[in-house]
Amino acid sequence: MKRTLLLATAIALGAMTSMAAAAGLPPLEEKERYKVGFSQMESNNPWRIAETKSFHDTAESCGWDLIATDAAGSAAKQVADVDSMIAQGIDVLFLPPREEKPLIPAVKKAKAAGIPTFLVDRSVDPNAAKAGEDYVSFLGSDFIDQGKRVAEWTIENFKGDKGVIVELEGTTGSSPANDRKKGFDDRILQDERFEIVASQTGDFARDLGRQVMETLLQAHPDVNIVYAHNDEMAIGAIQALELAGRKPGEDVLVVSIDGTRDALQAIIDGKMGVTVESSPFFGPLACATMKRYAAGETIEPWVQVEDRIFTPENAADHIDEAY
Ligand code: AHR
Repeated sequence: MKRTLLLATAIALGAMTSMAAAAGLPPLEEKERYKVGFSQMESNNPWRIAETKSFHDTAESCGWDLIATDAAGSAAKQVADVDSMIAQGIDVLFLPPREEKPLIPAVKKAKAAGIPTFLVDRSVDPNAAKAGEDYVSFLGSDFIDQGKRVAEWTIENFKGDKGVIVELEGTTGSSPANDRKKGFDDRILQDERFEIVASQTGDFARDLGRQVMETLLQAHPDVNIVYAHNDEMAIGAIQALELAGRKPGEDVLVVSIDGTRDALQAIIDGKMGVTVESSPFFGPLACATMKRYAAGETIEPWVQVEDRIFTPENAADHIDEAY
């Protein structure tokens, strides 16, 4: 009986190893505990803090001995953090790459070291590294669709004749900045009422968003729509608008992405129009996907997260669950 069980386990393990190997990916054995690396890019906003907390909160129930690092806003440090995790012998790597290109060597190095990597929340340049080959899978939202949904809400809800838009972009070279710009710009510019008069990075940060908005307001005093690639920059923009004597929500429509507590409060207060959700709670999904992979399942190249939309109609219903 014992022998048969052992044999069956060995066959299953062999099949699992060969499935991963056939795809050219490092295998992952099923076991009680895993040494897991989570390489955070920065901790300068509530979204990042919520994401890191989600990994810590998941660790015990998923059997993770978690090594979590913070690259403090530097892609170079994030590469070094991954190097250090590889040296510490992690079994699995969860990586939100700060930018699309600089983290590619880290992804390839993890693979060469036999460590399965899951990209979490942000992706890398698909021409340089591919899911199912260089890393197992990308777990995250459809950023192009998020931008498109903000544009569609704006088209439906903007009351004026001419929409003069300032766009606050996320971190230059990051997948959400690239994709949220594409999704929004392509859709909004199909409607002749709208013009994007300026588009500049605020690095996904509240204070930089405020500073950039202050400068752009001087160059474009006729702005009546602000599209920010995340809520932190939207809140910064609201501060800049108020300092300049403008009335966000009345003479300027502010629209954004994420679903943070401050953004939902701004919607309830009438200062913001909409935020399309981008969930930071990746811990449970990371655990489930890793376990499926360890069990020998072929993981889809993109494990897509569905996003809700928060508007004046439902923001109050969701503020208690926001971060
Ligand atoms: O990658 C997701 C984005 O990164 C979130 O929208 C933003 O708040 C974060 O910094």
